Amino acid sequence: MRETPSNLTLKPGDTIGILGGGQLGRMIALAAARLGLRCHIYAPEAANPAYDVAAKYTVGRYDDEAALRGFASSVQCVTYEFENVPAKTVEILSSRVPVRPGAKALAVCQDRVLEKQLARDLGATTADFVSINNLEELVQGIATIGTPSILKTRRFGYDGKGQFVIRKAEDAATAWAAVAGSPCILESFVPFLREVSVVAARGLDGIVKAFPVTENEHRDQILRRSIVPATLHPVTARSAIDIATKIATALDYVGVFAVEFFVVGENEAETVYVNEIAPRVHNSGHWTLDGASTSQFEQHVRAISGLPLGATAPTAAKVEMTNLIGDDVLDWHSLMAEPDTQLHLYGKGEPRPGRKMGHVTRFFGR
Ligand SMILES: Nc1ncnc2c1ncn2[C@@H]1O[C@H](COP(=O)(O)OP(=O)(O)O)[C@@H](O)[C@H]1O
Ligand SMILES: [Mg+2]
Repeated sequence: MRETPSNLTLKPGDTIGILGGGQLGRMIALAAARLGLRCHIYAPEAANPAYDVAAKYTVGRYDDEAALRGFASSVQCVTYEFENVPAKTVEILSSRVPVRPGAKALAVCQDRVLEKQLARDLGATTADFVSINNLEELVQGIATIGTPSILKTRRFGYDGKGQFVIRKAEDAATAWAAVAGSPCILESFVPFLREVSVVAARGLDGIVKAFPVTENEHRDQILRRSIVPATLHPVTARSAIDIATKIATALDYVGVFAVEFFVVGENEAETVYVNEIAPRVHNSGHWTLDGASTSQFEQHVRAISGLPLGATAPTAAKVEMTNLIGDDVLDWHSLMAEPDTQLHLYGKGEPRPGRKMGHVTRFFGR
């Protein structure tokens, strides 16, 4: 077995292994290539956006030990572009090669109860919550938390999937059936004014650098638009970045991560509630590709390679990122003709409803 020093640093010509082959893996691979690093993608799908731009790819299951061993022996470090990587996969890989971010960060961020508990333990505010394992606990939980509240599966949810809004106590049985008996979290409904996120990186040396706080608009529970800077009092923005820094430090995190927040109250009463932590590059950080000194993808590559983190300042007074979801992408030609607009397409083929096909970044005041 090879030695895997926790402080191993990559150099140009080395190879990063990426678990997952979606658009996030694609954009990480593009950023790595610019720094002279190669990427080897490992994913179960036969075709994927990231394969098109990587030096190498392996089609394999996340429980195929032999294939994972082969993959580990071909790379200097492994990262991932989605948080549902099985713990066992990381265990197999991390005995052979550094996996960044590590198993601890992944375990916490895969589970909505553990991540909210961590945020609370670090002094952050969250929605009230209880963990739910059966219908009786749900009935009891609704009595404690009140309505409206939201029942979410602890694991595997994204873009609002695996969630059920409970409006009255009588909804309990329907809600429990809707989540098919999976372990859940029940959260109080937060009457937020805005949603914001902090995208930041923690380097191998423990230094944390955050991008400016981003304001996020969702449509049908899918991120539609991100705007920088967020409408937020500077003191609130500082506290959001402080919370993100504490979370990353507590998790011994290495790489880019995002913390999603709800903004409640105005002026002196303005507060942020931690909603979720994503242990990866994040859609609300896509604006950094064209709108910040260093993109979140390059920052992730730098962090996991043990290289110095780049500057995070925005390059315009206001930057706006809009996702191209489903048929939105059919406007690619006219979007390309817009002045001061940058188009990114993920090479996904057929647009389907709800599918993230690409994004555009627009600049104001530069
Ligand atoms: N406790 C809550 N109170 C109010 N709105 C919520 C709450 N939880 C989630 N939402 C809304 O649903 C969206 C998706 O929920 P989230 O927990 O971020 O899951 P995911 O992004 O993994 O689907 C949030 O961005 C927010 O708009
Ligand atoms: Mg979310």
